Amino acid sequence: YFFERNIIKNKKLKALVTAGPTREYIDPVRYITNSSSGKQGYEIARSLAKFGVKTTLISGPSKLKNPEEVKVIRVETADQMYMETKKNFPVDIAVCAAAVCDFKPDEYKKEKIKKNNENKINLNLKYNVDILEFLSKNNSQRPKLVVGFAAETNNILKFAKEKKNRKYCDWIVANDVSNPEIGFDSDFNAVSIITSGKVEKIEKNLKSYVANKIARKIID
Ligand code: CTP
Repeated sequence: YFFERNIIKNKKLKALVTAGPTREYIDPVRYITNSSSGKQGYEIARSLAKFGVKTTLISGPSKLKNPEEVKVIRVETADQMYMETKKNFPVDIAVCAAAVCDFKPDEYKKEKIKKNNENKINLNLKYNVDILEFLSKNNSQRPKLVVGFAAETNNILKFAKEKKNRKYCDWIVANDVSNPEIGFDSDFNAVSIITSGKVEKIEKNLKSYVANKIARKIID
């Protein structure tokens, strides 16, 4: 993308990658999350750095080790991920691989919630800020390339294309999370990269291989 458009010109490119899940706290000991491992995002950050891109990885809770040559910022919540994204601006490339929790409790209870006498408890939720949408719509400092991910269980290409348009990103990487072989915690992935009008498939392979292909496509 950058080479083709003659944007590189010996300039050191900067990238920001989000990865992993987020945790949305209900009280000090309880939270809402998902089972994202962060593997695909970490591998993309590693590949970009290997290609000489100055890369910052903003990661939700993950067991993975920091990739070499990458500046890693660890956060817990979507709000923290958003704040760190804004702090590490501007960049040339943004890749949003994080499985950000779409919603969080409307109210955080500072003290542990105790049992009540009814047999139910209500939890009100509100939407989190959308980091990908923020990046894509940032007019003054928009990255030259914004890549989103679309984890879908059905109508994958259709929903992914809609997501790309709705969130104004340049590319969207779609994957089928209904298949456990390439799912959230697997070492493998199979994706379709949707660019303007084109779809490029990467068949099932290690997430490191898929990351290398995506990073190559970004640089070339
Ligand atoms: N994303 C983000 N911030 C959020 C939510 C999502 O940056 N608060 C990014 C993800 O990192 C990913 C893309 O948006 O790149 C797709 O997120 P997804 O949750 O699949 O999209 P939704 O808008 O929630 O659509 P859906 O109705 O399918 O849940």
